[in-house]
Amino acid sequence: MNELQGRKLVLGVTGGVAAYKAAELVRLLGKAGADVHVVLTAGGARFVTAVTYQALSGNPVWSDLWDARMDNNMAHIDLSRDADAVLVAPASADFLARLAQGRSDDLLSTLCLARDCPLLVAPAMNRQMWEHPATRRNVHTLMGDGVSVVGPAAGDQACGEVGMGRMLEPEEVLDAVIAFFTPKRLAGRKVVMTAGPTFEAIDPVRGITNTSSGKMGYAIAAACACAGAEVTLVSGPVALPVPAGVRHIGVQSALQMRSVVLQSLPGADVFIGVAAVADYRPLLTAEHKIKKSGETMSIELTPNPDILAEVAARPDAPFCVGFAAESRELDAYAEGKRRNKKLPMLVGNLVADALGGDDNTVILYDDAGRHPLPRAPKQEIARQIVEHLAKLLPAAAAGPH
Ligand code: CTP
Repeated sequence: MNELQGRKLVLGVTGGVAAYKAAELVRLLGKAGADVHVVLTAGGARFVTAVTYQALSGNPVWSDLWDARMDNNMAHIDLSRDADAVLVAPASADFLARLAQGRSDDLLSTLCLARDCPLLVAPAMNRQMWEHPATRRNVHTLMGDGVSVVGPAAGDQACGEVGMGRMLEPEEVLDAVIAFFTPKRLAGRKVVMTAGPTFEAIDPVRGITNTSSGKMGYAIAAACACAGAEVTLVSGPVALPVPAGVRHIGVQSALQMRSVVLQSLPGADVFIGVAAVADYRPLLTAEHKIKKSGETMSIELTPNPDILAEVAARPDAPFCVGFAAESRELDAYAEGKRRNKKLPMLVGNLVADALGGDDNTVILYDDAGRHPLPRAPKQEIARQIVEHLAKLLPAAAAGPH
């Protein structure tokens, strides 16, 4: 179950081209389990009409302060009364200005003023409007009032300019809302982790690697960041976006991964080894591309260091979490690896279930035994792994040791 399940959200849509993203956002929030009630400003209603939002949210759409559909004629009070949050996306420059002034001259501004739940805004505007001192001032005021400002991002704008002011993509706004509601169980904790495959070069154009997609590791990095941790993600080559708020260091080989991990380790409270580190690398890497000779050839391999075992064996070892992907006898192999590497926690899965896909079935192993988790998307599994490790983490003072 994710943090949005059963939450009532009011989504305010103000006038801006980015309103087209709000339609997708309604769909994503609904899919994540939220009950979404859309409120349009007059400007917002000119871009995407109420019909679309009503169909996507399954709820009536509101825009008039005097809407007679509300029995008591108090839409501004009733809509936000039992809401868990109000989210305004896109939030135009004008709406931010009105919000900063505490205006209440339409339904959305009035319910923002009358609410007693958190308010998040996802600004969207031309880059000059975003950079204008008046907008800077308004955003500063809103943050001082406890409003959470989500984005904006830099990039191509509808006006043809390039710069800061583009509304975050719907998936990014969704992630920010989930992060907002996620209890900060790892606040003040520093997490170092590995993810993805490693690539062990044979010559300048060839190498040995594996099919790890990095999805599980990246989902865990995102879940740790959501839980308030400071996350350093040391990753082999993958085709995934870096999760928001995560420090990412890209590497190729196991030796590079080891050296970056060791450099990042001071002060870490947690180390999570999710990477599918190649167990062997070519003993020699050819300086130039190897030419075919038509003969059989062999490549001599030498073992790579076990990064996780090395970290766990340190006298100042952080809380270490390992992964084991097995093709059979999961319990025996996984628990064996946990004991051999002296890990307080290990996540085991059957390879057939995991590699590359979006879902996973895992079993958590710790000193108390085995804890199977139901099959779920990797994001959900990641959230439960983080929750479990947060419970096991020694209650030592947070922050660098
Ligand atoms: N690991 C590591 N460094 C390595 C190898 C593995 O940090 N050189 C970490 C992985 O990130 C994972 C765990 O160790 O957390 C996997 O354990 P391991 O016993 O090495 O698994 P396999 O490599 O799959 O071992 P085997 O091939 O013997 O099953």
